[in-house]
Amino acid sequence: MLGTPTAPMPAIQTAEETIRRFAEQRTRVDAALLGFCDRYLGALEPVVAEAIRYSLLGEGKRLRPILVLAAYEAAGGTGDASVLAAAVEVVHAYSLVHDDLPCMDDDDVRRGRPTVHRVYGVPAATAAGLAMVPLAARCALDAAAALGLDEPTCGAIVRELMRASGAGGMIGGQQLDLEGEGEALSLERLQRIHRAKTGALIVAAAAIGGLAAGAPEERVHALRRFGEDVGLAFQIADDVLDVTATTDQLGKTAGRDLELKKSTYPALLGIEGAMDRANALIQDGCGALGAVGLLTPALDYIARFTVQRRS
Ligand code: IPE
Ligand code: IPE
Ligand code: MG
Ligand code: MG
Ligand code: MG
Repeated sequence: MLGTPTAPMPAIQTAEETIRRFAEQRTRVDAALLGFCDRYLGALEPVVAEAIRYSLLGEGKRLRPILVLAAYEAAGGTGDASVLAAAVEVVHAYSLVHDDLPCMDDDDVRRGRPTVHRVYGVPAATAAGLAMVPLAARCALDAAAALGLDEPTCGAIVRELMRASGAGGMIGGQQLDLEGEGEALSLERLQRIHRAKTGALIVAAAAIGGLAAGAPEERVHALRRFGEDVGLAFQIADDVLDVTATTDQLGKTAGRDLELKKSTYPALLGIEGAMDRANALIQDGCGALGAVGLLTPALDYIARFTVQRRS
């Protein structure tokens, strides 16, 4: 779950209120994830269903669904969008299952536990990941319809999520990331990879919140801009944490990027240079929201949490 960042919020009251709200939202998102397992996994091979359940219910920060909800509320949404938000987490959870496979980053630890393939085997983990993409589309469509959104809006939401997940977004970015192992990538190429493998889904989370709230195009555009900046900053911070935090703190193996010969922001810019870049990005992202009156305390907190987090 999102925790307290190292720097205090401008007004203590607002920070406490925001954190309390995130905790409530996280509870609702987790209930929705459990609901997906109970509702949609019955037709699958038991081992694949178990692997998906294990992946979905792991102790992550839930940053993407909380971003969906913060964007939704900032854009004037008044319903309970937690089930829709949870659908975005399904794509994220899938990305972690496959990211950890031996043919990708070959990791044994995720969210403080053995990775999915270490528990259920590579074939079940591979099938689980594949099944989670259409599962996410189905969950998003059902949740958008249950929110009472019209068909074009439901379609726009699912399109946004699937586009971010696909070859032009996360999957494409993961492919480029693997191809880049062992190469000294330029900052420009690395930025492109980070924006695709991690940024695309964070952009979609922000945009989906706006779309579900019925925000006009100008505001959805500002939310996308925010997502682009926060999304890149998030992966820069992930690269930094890989070298500055411990496996215990991260719940995943520290120092893996170096072992896998990945190009990273701290390798190219130094830790301080990378953090400066991440901080400048969130400043820009918050500026884009502020310009259209969308910078709520929750979105501001999420942006700062992205770079100040310890895990
Ligand atoms: C990890 O994402 C994978 C990246 C895109 C860097 P998170 O740091 O959000 O992972 P969880 O969901 O909290 O486990
Ligand atoms: C992962 O990037 C991006 C994803 C789409 C999962 P990393 O490979 O750096 O993520 P971690 O560090 O394993 O969580
Ligand atoms: Mg990876
Ligand atoms: Mg990895
Ligand atoms: Mg990483």
